[in-house]
Amino acid sequence: MPVKGDVPWKRDEHTGAKHDIYRRYLERWFPILLNRRSKPWPSVTYAEGFSGPGIYSGGEFGSPIVAIKALTSQVPADKGVARFIFVDDDKRCTDLLNETLIRAFPKRPRSEDAMPVKVVTGTCKDHLEAALDGMHAWGKPIFANLDSWGNAPIPYRLLKRLATNVSSEVIVTFFPQHFVRFVSDMGEAGDELFGGDPTWRTVTDLAPAAKSRHILTCYRQTLKTAGFKYLLDFELVPRHGQPLYLVFGTGHPLGVQKMKDSLWEVDPVQGVGFRDPRDEQAETLFDIDEPILGPLTRLLERKLRENGPTSVQDLRTFTLFETVYRPEHVIRSLGPLLERGIIRTEDDRPLKIRSLVRHTSTPSDPRAEAAADAPS
Ligand SMILES: C[S@@+](CC[C@H](N)C(=O)[O-])C[C@H]1O[C@@H](n2cnc3c(N)ncnc32)[C@H](O)[C@@H]1O
Repeated sequence: MPVKGDVPWKRDEHTGAKHDIYRRYLERWFPILLNRRSKPWPSVTYAEGFSGPGIYSGGEFGSPIVAIKALTSQVPADKGVARFIFVDDDKRCTDLLNETLIRAFPKRPRSEDAMPVKVVTGTCKDHLEAALDGMHAWGKPIFANLDSWGNAPIPYRLLKRLATNVSSEVIVTFFPQHFVRFVSDMGEAGDELFGGDPTWRTVTDLAPAAKSRHILTCYRQTLKTAGFKYLLDFELVPRHGQPLYLVFGTGHPLGVQKMKDSLWEVDPVQGVGFRDPRDEQAETLFDIDEPILGPLTRLLERKLRENGPTSVQDLRTFTLFETVYRPEHVIRSLGPLLERGIIRTEDDRPLKIRSLVRHTSTPSDPRAEAAADAPS
């Protein structure tokens, strides 16, 4: 879907925050793989399926330049090979990207052998996998940035292949309203984006407030089914305009940890908040320095109500892998529940990482209840 208006276009509010996240993450990803002490990879690939022109009308650089700078600023030139693949189906974008690469790097920061760069005009669907094949990227780590306009025209087969490739990760930009709006036009043809699963189309039966969340849950499930063991998803919410959903998939828990660190370090002056897509009240964290913990309190309360007694340590793991928050937020978020008598610690002592916590509406040991309910 070529760009409707002019190329380049004005960078919007959440794009700045999105680039900040990419940069912070890639500044970790490249050195962890190429420059670690023990068994560094000889090569890695950074690939984009929707690269854009590499620059915005205000002169800010786009994601391809952000990615190359992340490599060159963090990894010495003699440490392995980093391949870059940029695919976009608008020729104006790929032409301008070629020009922008020269403008951003007048002197090549690495030799052609140490840093091959391929710019391809064509759709992600038809060209990204072929470009990865052509550059012999498989069998080595790949980071795929799939930043479409939010309609995510990404073949499920590509997601599956990435999920099963060694140390590979994906970040997808997703705009749920697109699917809510066009569900009847897309019909069964849309199922392919969800790995053939038609569940997303039940969105038509839902109340307006539940529609976006349903689509997000389905897409998250798509990445899980494709084989990404760990996911981190969140919404970027600008003060004006539509929120954008990002979902990151990785096979390694360290990936989630580093992505979450990158997220929480984002420059707060970007004027963009984060939202946990699972929060029923859709409360946004606008000030990351003083995070709003209400959504995490609600998620933990629900988890304790549904799962029975749980250790704070397990709640920290849940928080890391299943929410937008950090493990360090757990004890503070449980505080209000404890004060209101909604939860208690098993030993009635103050909360610690080792505490076992239970919801006061559930029995202290679900096994005891099961035993009581069992026919004698
Ligand atoms: C959101 S912009 C990319 C922005 C860029 N990643 C950045 O952060 O600087 C989306 C790009 O996808 C391109 N595009 C749209 N549909 C496409 C498709 N099916 N295959 C490849 N590129 C596509 C558009 O031309 C546009 O440049």
